[in-house]
Amino acid sequence: MSSNDDFFATKKAAAVFKHGILSRYPVVFAAKAGMNVRDHRVTFLDGYAGQGRYGDGEPGSPLLLVESARQVESFRSVRGIFVERNDANFENLSQVLSEVECVRKPVLFHRSLDDCLPEILDLVKEDALFAFLDPFGPALDFNLIRSGLLSRPERPPTEVLLHISVSTVARMGGQLRTARADGKPLTGSPLATAQRLNRFLGGDWWQEHFATVSDKHDDYQATQAALTVADKYRDMIAAGTGFMSMSMPVRPRPDLLPKYVLALFTRHVEGVWCFADALGKAGADWRRACTAAAWNRGISPDQPTLFDLEMLAPGGDVTESANNRDWIATIAANILHLATTVGPFRIADRVTDVYGDTLGSAWIPHVRSAVQDLHRQGLIANDGKGKRFHYALIRRY
Ligand SMILES: C[S@@+](CC[C@H](N)C(=O)[O-])C[C@H]1O[C@@H](n2cnc3c(N)ncnc32)[C@H](O)[C@@H]1O
Repeated sequence: MSSNDDFFATKKAAAVFKHGILSRYPVVFAAKAGMNVRDHRVTFLDGYAGQGRYGDGEPGSPLLLVESARQVESFRSVRGIFVERNDANFENLSQVLSEVECVRKPVLFHRSLDDCLPEILDLVKEDALFAFLDPFGPALDFNLIRSGLLSRPERPPTEVLLHISVSTVARMGGQLRTARADGKPLTGSPLATAQRLNRFLGGDWWQEHFATVSDKHDDYQATQAALTVADKYRDMIAAGTGFMSMSMPVRPRPDLLPKYVLALFTRHVEGVWCFADALGKAGADWRRACTAAAWNRGISPDQPTLFDLEMLAPGGDVTESANNRDWIATIAANILHLATTVGPFRIADRVTDVYGDTLGSAWIPHVRSAVQDLHRQGLIANDGKGKRFHYALIRRY
């Protein structure tokens, strides 16, 4: 069994985070982005759909998107489009989707996404589009996203959620560095690796970021380099398209290095705001899954030897109520710092700065509590009341 085959056997904690996002954010997208679209039409595109369901019965991304469509079916007309290239996975996917009820029949493509994306874009040109791209490793072509999905007109709205495999980029970058250290031109497998990453990352600019990786066992340095590459990649792919992006590194366990980055591309600050909220809630799912997995391995997650505190988001393995206090204090400090250094600002415009290290842990009520705490202390004029408090100008007293 290859590691890719093994992927569908049971859902791992890292996939819990991804699926925590998929069971929340598409609903919000459909509700908000589908509001001013003709007939409230929305498409969820799963470009690398997989088998539909894991071997242990847990829903995969296609079923989570179908469930999201169901949650909004009384006020949005949502269609799912699912693309899967692999024969066996496609067969499983078709079977799984034939067993679920959908108001709009799902559309399936048994092809490579590169091949059918132009057709899909034509099919959905009048719909708000949420695309989830979850390949194994760096399988995407840079231009597929930039000239395909991100070149759609501003209306109807488009958002893309992309899984970037940091561990694969780190591994490939490390291999390349080792091959280069011999001072010989690249051939064979290292050359193929470099070409694959060039195609994914839109050029060979990323190679310089691995110059500091000292040897092939230096996983920490290689992962740091891969995270920097992932950030730059987001900037490059969105440059000049009108899209902004935000990302979240996801670890398989709190004591392990990030395995992938989830990156959202959106044109609207409300997308960033709601995505940060979904990240925090997905983070709670992930912590529960990590704790359960730790107990199953016979280890108390409270043992500091298991969860290296430096690797954790603030609070990490202490109780949720202590987490809440820490997160609110961190967010309050960030807000105060912004109000002092940049002057009056809207939280909606500085979401990642406001969350800071609590991104992926805290969510909207924590931000509201932080604003209210600062107000109670007489430090800012805003009282944090109202649904749209993130659009009010934050001013220091
Ligand atoms: C990581 S899995 C998807 C997991 C799924 N999104 C989930 O969360 O349940 C990636 C899938 O993409 C498929 N795939 C790989 N390259 C593809 C391509 N070019 N076009 C469409 N599907 C592809 C693979 O066969 C595999 O089933």
